[in-house]
Amino acid sequence: MSDSTEQNKSNWEKFQAEMKRMVEEEVKGKTPEELKMTYKGIRYPSSLCSVPSFEAMERFEAREDDVLIITYPKCGTHWSKTILHEMLLEVHGKEPTVDRIMFEFGKPEKYEILIIMRNPKDAAVSYYHFTNNLPVLPTYSSWDLFFKDFISGDVLFGSYFDYHLGWDRHIDDGNILVLTFEDMKADLPAELKKINDFYGLNLTDEQILQIEEKTIFKSMKEKSSNTHGKLADAFFRKGEIGDWKSLFTEEQSKEVDAKFEKYLAGTKLGEKINYRKFCTF
Ligand code: A3P
Repeated sequence: MSDSTEQNKSNWEKFQAEMKRMVEEEVKGKTPEELKMTYKGIRYPSSLCSVPSFEAMERFEAREDDVLIITYPKCGTHWSKTILHEMLLEVHGKEPTVDRIMFEFGKPEKYEILIIMRNPKDAAVSYYHFTNNLPVLPTYSSWDLFFKDFISGDVLFGSYFDYHLGWDRHIDDGNILVLTFEDMKADLPAELKKINDFYGLNLTDEQILQIEEKTIFKSMKEKSSNTHGKLADAFFRKGEIGDWKSLFTEEQSKEVDAKFEKYLAGTKLGEKINYRKFCTF
């Protein structure tokens, strides 16, 4: 946890400036293929990722008190990042730097890791809207076309199923807390307490409730035009469970069921999702 108010402030400014630059310059005239790059067989957005930065990540050595957040796209990255930010701000009285990583690198067993999962069907629908609303990502002309790529793992950042299977191998390392988007929606204070205990932050119940207030969807959405500018609606869309039913056909639903069964059913990470409850039509 390196900290500095100035650094964090300028991180947001840098984020917004970088997004603006990408929207205005990088993507102009590029084909969907040109918006992608490949590293170790997985596709990434070429405007955000490069081979040298991946190679640097492989050599990355975290500090002892670093906190890493692990999320597949659209599973609650900004939500968990804001929660940790608010918690660390409360504990240290100054702005922390919170970063999130979406792929396995270095030696995961060395860090304190927070994994946020979300059911694959809602993650897919959220991803579809996101990729079509963020100019630096490839646009899909239909949900069906996106679904094909999602199920085959040919979306940016790779397959939802491989990704979670990879992290399941570390589940017993002893340094991982796994939470779900769905549990956070159901009882945010309870999940905040788990984070508090896991990191030994010693926040009081009152502080937890204040953090809840600031990190519920409504509050984050209201502030999003300050934090994410024109891209606010892409990052903070509905924040609900079950929106997948608006786009999935029954056949697509069955395809995800089969994939889940093959890859994640029976794994410890897969169990956390409560698949039957959240993924049945
Ligand atoms: P939807 O597209 O379903 O609305 P990520 O940050 O990993 O990209 O995830 C984005 C998803 O999390 C979006 O889902 C977004 O609306 C939702 N989200 C962001 N902040 C949230 C919050 N405080 N509570 C609930 N959902 C939130």
